[in-house]
Amino acid sequence: MDNDRLLRELTDFLRIPSVSTSPTHNADCRAAGEWVAGELRRLGCREVQFLASGTHPVVWGVGPEVPRAPTLLIYGHYDVQPPDPLDEWTTPPFEPTVRDGKLFARGAADDKGQVFCLLKAIEAGGDRPPVNFRFLIEGEEEYGSRVLFELLRREPERTRADAVLIADMAYIAPRWPAVYTTLRGLCYAEITVRTAKSDLHSGEFGGAAPNAHEELVRLLDRLKTPDGKIHVPGLYSAVRRPAKAELATWRSLPFKESDFLKHRVQAKALTGLKAYSVLERLWALPTFEIHGITGGFTGDGAKTVIPAAATAKVSLRLVPDQKLKTVERQLAAAVKRFAPRYVRASVTFLHGADPATVKVTHPAFALLDQAFREVVGRGTIPARAGGSIPVVPALGRGGAPVILTGIGLPDDRLHAPNEKLDLKQLWDGIRVFRRFYELLGSKGV
Ligand code: BES
Ligand code: MN
Ligand code: MN
Repeated sequence: MDNDRLLRELTDFLRIPSVSTSPTHNADCRAAGEWVAGELRRLGCREVQFLASGTHPVVWGVGPEVPRAPTLLIYGHYDVQPPDPLDEWTTPPFEPTVRDGKLFARGAADDKGQVFCLLKAIEAGGDRPPVNFRFLIEGEEEYGSRVLFELLRREPERTRADAVLIADMAYIAPRWPAVYTTLRGLCYAEITVRTAKSDLHSGEFGGAAPNAHEELVRLLDRLKTPDGKIHVPGLYSAVRRPAKAELATWRSLPFKESDFLKHRVQAKALTGLKAYSVLERLWALPTFEIHGITGGFTGDGAKTVIPAAATAKVSLRLVPDQKLKTVERQLAAAVKRFAPRYVRASVTFLHGADPATVKVTHPAFALLDQAFREVVGRGTIPARAGGSIPVVPALGRGGAPVILTGIGLPDDRLHAPNEKLDLKQLWDGIRVFRRFYELLGSKGV
């Protein structure tokens, strides 16, 4: 295949600012969906449809019929996270640029570049596909996948397949491809504190009136202590500690806590529960993060005011066997309990996901392992992931194995400035998945 042509095509896809969380980009999300649909048509799909287009359309495709061959469902997402802070990008997020063998753009690794990889691997296999392909490429993954959830509840037969393939993750280290056995879930919420009817002059009232920001900060402070413990009553009771054997295998992975701090986090120290290894903290323990706090005066200059309301966007990551619904109740109860009687505290849930668990014993995993072994010289290591993909539990409900893998690298900077994809990973990836499809078609599962 002509890599220059492929690079031009991927660049066209990445240029579309399909930021799903902000309504100003609705038309761009649609355009990215159209781009995917165009590719599916070029791959000879018998059926290409936009489903559930209440918000951003889910692109559905049915590949050419291949009698007696297995059915492989490919899931991915064409939406991306917001690109800000813009001034930290070396080149603009939606002007894809190659530097030093890496393609820099929002979505390069998460997930447009990887969706592209899976599709081009089909094209690379020639005109007669080895398996029955189904495609489910959505535009709302980064915003909780609400529309796709509803669609799968109404039409669960869409997920009927012999295997589901998702490339939305990374190698655990350069030259170490992986398959993932768990994903964390997510509970995303806004906590709002209101202390008075309206803002007040801080000279006239300061010293005697409650301050919403102060109350909010105190409340947040009670929800997590500096040692990393989350004080949401009941939160840890469903957390299942990984088996000793699994923890032991993590110690042999190419992961060094000191390198993680120095090269990836690039901070002065790591935080969190010191009694657990960093990998256990990232993969098998819940988290509580504050994403941003608004309210009061944050404009240029100075204004002397006591804010009457303040809001924090927060989220918790969930691990097996926690349940989103339970955690929502636990968080709401904790906020109610920690807020003093004279403030009005409320919690609104924006989106969320249950954690996912995948057994990697199905024969399809051995075929992917073989494909990686042949192409990159090492098979897939079972690992866990700290991130979330909301619909994974629903995709597995029909009994098909959900193969969670990817061609990214740990330093791709997902959701952050200067996100990138190493082109070598992409070219290798196309060969890996092409081989995987062939193996699946010839050996079956
Ligand atoms: N591709 C990521 C998920 C991911 C990242 C898995 C790293 C494993 C390792 C996905 O696009 C993502 O970012 N998901 C969101 C989901 C949320 C907004 C509901 C996430 O994890 O924050
Ligand atoms: Mn993703
Ligand atoms: Mn993402």
